Amino acid sequence: MNLNGPPYPYTEKDWSQWYPFVSKAGRGCATELQAIHDSLQLLQGSDGDESEVVSRQKRWVSQSMLPWTIRELPGLKSDNEADRFIGAITIERGTFLYILDEDERRRRKQENNALDAGDRNIIWEVGFYLVPKYHGRGIMPAVLRTLIKHILVPYMNVHTLMATYFEYNTPSRRVFEKCGFEFLQLLPDAITLPPTKNNGITGRKVGLGVMRWQLA
Ligand SMILES: CC(C)(COP(=O)(O)OP(=O)(O)OC[C@H]1O[C@@H](n2cnc3c(N)ncnc32)[C@H](O)[C@@H]1OP(=O)(O)O)[C@@H](O)C(=O)NCCC(=O)NCCS
Repeated sequence: MNLNGPPYPYTEKDWSQWYPFVSKAGRGCATELQAIHDSLQLLQGSDGDESEVVSRQKRWVSQSMLPWTIRELPGLKSDNEADRFIGAITIERGTFLYILDEDERRRRKQENNALDAGDRNIIWEVGFYLVPKYHGRGIMPAVLRTLIKHILVPYMNVHTLMATYFEYNTPSRRVFEKCGFEFLQLLPDAITLPPTKNNGITGRKVGLGVMRWQLA
């Protein structure tokens, strides 16, 4: 109910449209990251800090969407299930949800999508969720910090990462704050909730908080 994206209820048809798309993006991303990682290893000659060789790197991830699953490793499990799915985090080129004028939003998206991989001016965006049982343990801040440090900066040259949250979603805002994002603005009544996400009531609007992370 805190997410703008996935439809609710989530039907078989939703899955059959979404899964091939996200699965392809995930595979493309894994292949590309591995190739870049291998070339970094050659540059480094050892397992050093990726950030040290960024300035010499010429290849960047070209995918416009990077979807990740978050898993509990067998060594950390509290029950007998191994490698359990506990959530997801997606990095993608900006959707500019916080630009309310549709023409202007479309124009910004086109402009942003046209930038070459590795361009520091690309506006990226992050979204995430965790299975409720895992809330409140500091997992998402750790995941996001790790992604920024070990993937987004060294493999993608990310300089600006945007995020939005429904105004009442304080846990989400706290995650961003803990990861060094700054609060930019609250847009009142920016999103109209579908009735299925609002007890069947049509037309309820919700404010959108906007957060930004920038490479120091
Ligand atoms: C938002 C979310 C990813 C936070 O991840 P997390 O790993 O639980 O993050 P943290 O453990 O650092 O908790 C963040 C803050 O929320 C609070 N919190 C966590 N779970 C909570 C809950 N169920 N109810 C109320 N507060 C909660 C924590 O106390 C913490 O605040 P604090 O650091 O000031 O004490 C997680 O709550 C979630 O998946 N929510 C549903 C999906 C969602 O809202 N996604 C974001 C859309 S923008």
